Parts: sequence; structure tokens; C-alpha cells
Amino acid sequence: MTHEAQTVLPRRILLGVTGGIAAYKAADLVRRLREGGAEVQVILTEGAARFVTPMTFQALSGRPVRVGLWDEAAEAAMGHIELARWAELVLVAPASADFLARLAAGMANDLLTTTCLATTAPIAVAPAMNQQMWSAAATQANITTLRQRSVRVLGPGVGSQACGEQGAGRLLEPADIAAQVLSSSADGGLLSGRHIVITAGPTREPIDPVRFLSNRSSGKMGFAVAQAAREAGARVTLISGPVHLPTPLGVERINVETAAQMYAAVHAVMDDCDVYIGAAAVADYTPHCCAENKIKKTSDTLDLHLEKSPDILASVAALSKRPYVVGFAAETTNVEAHALAKLERKKLDLIAANEVGAERAFDRDDNALLLLWSGGRQALGLQSKADLAREFITFIAHRVSARSDGE
Ligand code: PMT
Repeated sequence: MTHEAQTVLPRRILLGVTGGIAAYKAADLVRRLREGGAEVQVILTEGAARFVTPMTFQALSGRPVRVGLWDEAAEAAMGHIELARWAELVLVAPASADFLARLAAGMANDLLTTTCLATTAPIAVAPAMNQQMWSAAATQANITTLRQRSVRVLGPGVGSQACGEQGAGRLLEPADIAAQVLSSSADGGLLSGRHIVITAGPTREPIDPVRFLSNRSSGKMGFAVAQAAREAGARVTLISGPVHLPTPLGVERINVETAAQMYAAVHAVMDDCDVYIGAAAVADYTPHCCAENKIKKTSDTLDLHLEKSPDILASVAALSKRPYVVGFAAETTNVEAHALAKLERKKLDLIAANEVGAERAFDRDDNALLLLWSGGRQALGLQSKADLAREFITFIAHRVSARSDGE
């Protein structure tokens, strides 16, 4: 089990803008970061300055914009070392393929890369480039290197691109980037003062040392819910199966593999939990025992003996001091009927039903939910998981506060 935490919300943000058509969106990002209460100091690379003017960013940030490493007057006032010390977060958006390569290589050949090398602040990058450039082996290797060095990678988004192609590589929307790096509503938000525990992703049930049973969950839904809960001011513990997603800022993350480990991790944080949301696709069955050595191909058929894994959701709902308990229901048929049966059988306060299948819910960037509770239902329409999670969390926050008011 491993822990990761991102608990401090940055208030002094050094925003690096690199050369690409998406550079114009960085102007909106400055505005949103400042609305969120952050001070923003902008560095434009020379490539960025060909797409957008320093004057725009100076007007929006209220600070002189830095471009060159060799600007004597600027270096005398606030040199790159001071900039590096001043920043509580270095955010590079858009981050071009070239910049990512230079950052991964540890180069210091312009003001932005030099400042990145000189800072001890966390670094986040929001890549933006043509989809082929994003999927190129070199870019992916650079991203892996940067992630290993704890650089947060925000996005990229998927969709139509300025070059006319479709695919991954779009800059995330400025509102999403701003929401991921700071939470304007964290203090005094709808869930301020609440501790929310969320599970996400699949579990892996070992068959032998090299094989496991798992499912198609990517963790995207649960991570989006964790981020939305953090944005709403909650203290968030995210207990995740094996996924390839960065931890949302301000969220404490506990990594697990098996259903049994997830069960233990959940119950270890139940003491002060106000809301539990089970978005993980937990294995219902696990191999009776994991073979000590790799199972050999000695016969034409192989029987696996499976036994029920612990039902985490039902066990949380059965606690004597129980939180508000929200389950998910992943169904391929009769979605509402099956979900209602789970709501009752597991004694939940709320269940979020989604239709799953090859083209639905699992590992997609969008989803729709049908919320069901004793005596009510509400549909949340198809939209990005980020937006859906915000609607979902707002709904939960209102139900939780209505319940507290009634106590
Ligand atoms: O991760 P993504 O790719 O973004 O996909 C999102 C999702 C489809 C995984 C998500 O929206 C979702 O539906 N999650 C729940 C998946 C699931 O396991 O559903 P279920 O109907 O089998 O289980 C019902 C509930 O019981 C769930 O809250 C589940 O977390 C919980 N459960 C199930 C088994 C078990 N042993 N313990 C549990 O707590």
C-alpha cells in the first residue's frame, strides 16, 4: 500500500507559456487563476511570444512578463533564482513537445527551463500538441520520465485539434486546469469541513505470480469525483486500484491492488469519514488461493476456484457509526431495477447507476449517471466525467447537509 499527498493549495503561481497555437488560451487561464485568489507571474518562451504578446499577459497578471534569460534589467529586479524561490507552483500551459523534451532532459537553455531546474516548488504541465506528436514514442518517454520525477501532467484533452485532426493532445480547458491546481471554493465550499473517502479504479486479484483477474475500469470516474469533492472544500482520501492517473491536487491517495487491500485501506480511514463513495470496480470474486509459482500449461482446460471477495460498500453501510454511503452500480441491462436492488440490499443512502459496456462508461472521458435513493431519482446527462463529477458532488453535498440539518 502506498500513500501520496498533495495537500497545499498554491497561491503564488509561476505560469510558463510555451510556443503553440493554444498559447492564446493561457490568457484566460491567468484570469481564472487570479479569480481563484492566486498571484500569477508569467514567463513566455520566445516561441510563445510569437503567438501572443507580453502586453496581454502583463495586463491580465498585473505583473511585468518575463521572456528572455538575458534581460539584464529584469534579472536585476527578480532574477530566475528569485522567480524559482517565489513560486509555490510552476505551471506550464500550454506545454509543447519541445518544452517537455527539454524539461525531461534537464536543460536550462531558456528562462523557463532554467527556472524549472532552480525551483523546489512542484511543477505541473498541461501538454498541447498535434495528436501524432503526443503519441510519439519520444514524447511518451519524456512524459514517463517527468511523471517519475513527480511532475504533474494535466491532460491532455481529446477532441478536434487546430490542425484539423482528432485525438489526444488538446490543451485542457483553462477552467479545468485552474480547478486542478487550486480550489477557489475549497475554503467555505459546500463540503468544507467534511472528510470524503472515495474508491476508484479496478482491483487485481492474483492467480499466480504473473497473472491476475481484473476489469476495464480506468479510474477516471472516481478520480474526477475526488477532484470535484476537493474543489468543493472536502478533505479527500482517494483509495485507488492500479491506474495511470495523476493524483488530483490537494487529495490524499492510497494505492492498493486487491479487493482485500482496498477493504483494509477503507476501514483504516472510516473513523472520521462523513461521506463514502464507492466508485471502484471491485472484484466480486477472487481466486481461492494464489499459486506460489507460475501455473504451467499442462492440460487443455484449467479450473479456477473463486470465492467471494469482501463487499466493501456493504461493510461500510453496516458500521454502527456510518458515514453517508454512496454506491455505484455498473450494469449492462435493466440498469434501474438492478441498481435499486443494490441500494436496498446494501442499505445505501444513494446509488449512482451507469450503463456499462464496450462503448460506455469504462475508460471513457464522458459518462451519464442515474441517481437513485429511497423515494427519488435524478438523471445526470451525458457529459465529461469532470463536469458530471461536479454535478454529482453538488447533489451529494446538498443531501448530506439536508440530513445534518434534520438531525
Ligand atoms: O473507472 P472508469 O473507467 O472511469 O469507469 C467508471 C466505472 C464504470 C468503473 C464507475 O462509474 C462504476 O460504475 N463503478 C462501480 C463499478 C462496480 O463495481 O459496480 P458493481 O455494480 O459491480 O458494484 C456495486 C457497488 O459495490 C460499487 O459501488 C462497488 O464499488 C461496490 N463493491 C462491489 C464489490 C465489492 N466486493 N465491494 C464493493 O464495495
